[in-house]
Amino acid sequence: MKALSDHIRLLLLGSGGREHAMAWKIAQSTRVEKLYIAPGNAGTGLVGENVPLKADDFEGIRNFVLENKIDMVVVGPEDPLVKGIYDYFRADSELQEIPVIGPSKEGAVLEGSKDFAKGFMQRHGIPTAAYRTFTGEMLEEGKAFLKTLQPPYVLKADGLCAGKGVLILPTLEEAEKELEEMLGGMFGNASSRVVIEEFMSGIECSVFVLTDGKNYVILPEAKDYKRIGEGDKGLNTGGMGSVSPVPFATKEWMQKVENRIIRPTVEGLAAEGIDYKGFIFFGLINVEGEPKVIEYNVRMGDPETESVMLRIKSDLVDLFEGVATQTLNEKKIEFDSRSAVCVMLVSGGYPEAYTKGYPISGIESVEGSIVFHAGTALKEGQVVTNGGRVIAVSSYGSNKEEALQKSFQEAQKIQYEKKYFRSDIGADL
Ligand code: AMP
Ligand code: GLY
Repeated sequence: MKALSDHIRLLLLGSGGREHAMAWKIAQSTRVEKLYIAPGNAGTGLVGENVPLKADDFEGIRNFVLENKIDMVVVGPEDPLVKGIYDYFRADSELQEIPVIGPSKEGAVLEGSKDFAKGFMQRHGIPTAAYRTFTGEMLEEGKAFLKTLQPPYVLKADGLCAGKGVLILPTLEEAEKELEEMLGGMFGNASSRVVIEEFMSGIECSVFVLTDGKNYVILPEAKDYKRIGEGDKGLNTGGMGSVSPVPFATKEWMQKVENRIIRPTVEGLAAEGIDYKGFIFFGLINVEGEPKVIEYNVRMGDPETESVMLRIKSDLVDLFEGVATQTLNEKKIEFDSRSAVCVMLVSGGYPEAYTKGYPISGIESVEGSIVFHAGTALKEGQVVTNGGRVIAVSSYGSNKEEALQKSFQEAQKIQYEKKYFRSDIGADL
């Protein structure tokens, strides 16, 4: 693909806090003439123009791209990637010269199938938990395999389950029962195959790279907070906050991550002939100083992006051009040395049932922090809640304590009925 002009017309797909943070960063690029977000939210509309198209409406996107002379498409969520938006562009004579930042359908299987991801890691010697995969006909073998493991037991539906497909069970009896239910269709087709793996004990860290398929740049790492309750208790959520940098991700540790995980992954994709030009998200765990992979995602993390974007000093669109033209080796990524954090304000009741449509006030009184909308909508000119995760309050600080204090302080100014946030983000580090 050829180099892009300095008047790039860019379309970003998605509608969450991740996409608002990416849109915020993209809008700062000197290379961008026009930024559209499809479908976006009330926040993305402040930094670009929202387009009422679903992120997986390929035909709608095609028409929009051609009519509006779009030069580049950046994909936020995994769904359009797993459905093959990259390949859709490559196969269309009118779209084929337009870069899509995100992997091919084949590459997206790294997130779309846990069994594929585990097999890939095994083939390339990438450190991860020992595992085996079972289908419905293999229930008895699966139960026998569970008996060879130590508790707790980790069961994973092979396919995408909106973050709900991983069960960690304390006893063998529960693990056997859940295995039977999963293989029996608990998550529909997604759990027709189940990965059973060894439990790893340690602290988690999210590492991100942008790759052009040959070269890569490593983005700032972050830690996210998945549980709804303080002290990391209660149900899993999409993520309640994030912190970057991560103290245990020292230079030495990150060197291990690069040598043992990042490079073998990028080289492994190339060696297997998988077309991959986009983000890779390594969900890592630090087991007694050794990084191991829990999972791959083929997109940025949410809410990690709401901290990570603050720490990238370089022009993001310039890096995207490096991806599109396979010249990422000529680009340099510069980090902001400050800490960045985000605190997620959610709807009361989330991640279970909650009410949408509450008016949100006080956003305009936030000073010195950056407000990223996650689940919001505009209703007759009023910003209202429109999801479980509503708003991310992101802040810089000379250290994480200072950044967190700022986010907690500014979070108080935003009001809506049944607002909730965790006030212990970053406290474990
Ligand atoms: P995943 O959807 O693969 O990210 O899994 C969800 C969460 O389950 C992870 O963020 C971890 O906290 C936990 N988890 C998954 N696999 C393991 C494992 N093998 N050992 C320990 N915890 C795990
Ligand atoms: N924060 C984890 C994720 O985006 O999957």
